[in-house]
Amino acid sequence: MPAIDYLRISLIDRCNFRCAYCMPEGADLDYVLREHWLSQDEILTLLREVFIPLGFNRFRLTGGEPLLRPDVVELVGAIAALPQTQDLAMTTNAFRLADLAQPLYDAGLRRINISLDSLDPETFRQLTGGRDRWQTVWAGIQAAHRVGFSPLKLNVVVIPGVNDHEVMDLAALTLEREWHVRFIEFMPIGNSSLFTDKGWVDSETIRQQLRDRWGLTTSAVQGNGPADVFKLPGAKGTVGFISQMSECFCDRCNRMRLSADGWLRPCLLNETGQINLRSALREGRPLANIRAQVGELVTAKPEVNFKMRDAGVTGAYSRTMSQIGG
Ligand code: GTP
Ligand code: 5AD
Ligand code: SF4
Repeated sequence: MPAIDYLRISLIDRCNFRCAYCMPEGADLDYVLREHWLSQDEILTLLREVFIPLGFNRFRLTGGEPLLRPDVVELVGAIAALPQTQDLAMTTNAFRLADLAQPLYDAGLRRINISLDSLDPETFRQLTGGRDRWQTVWAGIQAAHRVGFSPLKLNVVVIPGVNDHEVMDLAALTLEREWHVRFIEFMPIGNSSLFTDKGWVDSETIRQQLRDRWGLTTSAVQGNGPADVFKLPGAKGTVGFISQMSECFCDRCNRMRLSADGWLRPCLLNETGQINLRSALREGRPLANIRAQVGELVTAKPEVNFKMRDAGVTGAYSRTMSQIGG
């Protein structure tokens, strides 16, 4: 097992997009009440007094859409300024990034992962909830590139019959740019009607298409997340595969997740053992006591990993990625 030293912090469970595979239009989502959001002070207290002493030093800010959180730039600055922070990253839909890329970079953010499921504005419009947003997102990606975020990762959830015909074009972005394009197997999580019996597109199917067209080499740099990383020959960037349906990477999972309302969960897909740290803080429980309880959960984590491919269930996980933070 790797060291568990990476915390994904969801700042907000709301989103300005309605991705058909995540929180489709009309879905009945119970948003967290604003007064239940962990405040900036609470997040910083938890990092300083609980997570950092337990060895956590890598943090990723997620949502919903983290750039909707009004104090996001300030929070980035405060987390980046903690002397123990070795890596601070964000996963975003990039809609607000054209304006925020520079302030975020100046505040200390260095790594950014962006969802981009299509290069076709019409497909993107349909996938993200019916409004024209592709140009704005593309401008956000360009802004992040200009400002110097590196590595810049683009996440593509591959959905049969929707965007799987675009994988070559998306992979081709890496030929001339130092971007990392990652293809994600579509998980039956949330309430998506897109998860039909066609299921997901297997990473190996995409790799074979890329091999046939360009060839594919294993990348020397593998990263520390769930992605397996490859390169098109001569490309500046890489192509990665996050294959939670066809493989199981639980044995190399290095992360815990904190939801916007303070639930700490040891696994994306399994709620076993989760603890409410917001209540613990607001009830005034001693920090040493909270730290001990979190420490126990970290130690127990390997047992609560979840083998999605073994479950064989469709749409069985009612909480969406927007609620958990991806
Ligand atoms: P870095 O490697 O640090 O750049 O981050 P990442 O790839 O883990 O982060 P990102 O938020 O871009 O996650 C991409 C996708 O990977 C998520 O949307 C999930 O689909 C998948 N993923 C990330 N962590 C897990 C995990 O613990 N379990 C499972 N099953 N999938 C995960
Ligand atoms: N399956 C796989 N990935 C998903 N994401 C959201 N819902 C799903 C799903 N059902 C991804 C988004 C984004 C990240 C936060 O989660 O594409 O990159
Ligand atoms: Fe789409 Fe991410 Fe928003 Fe979900 S949280 S609707 S995947 S942009």
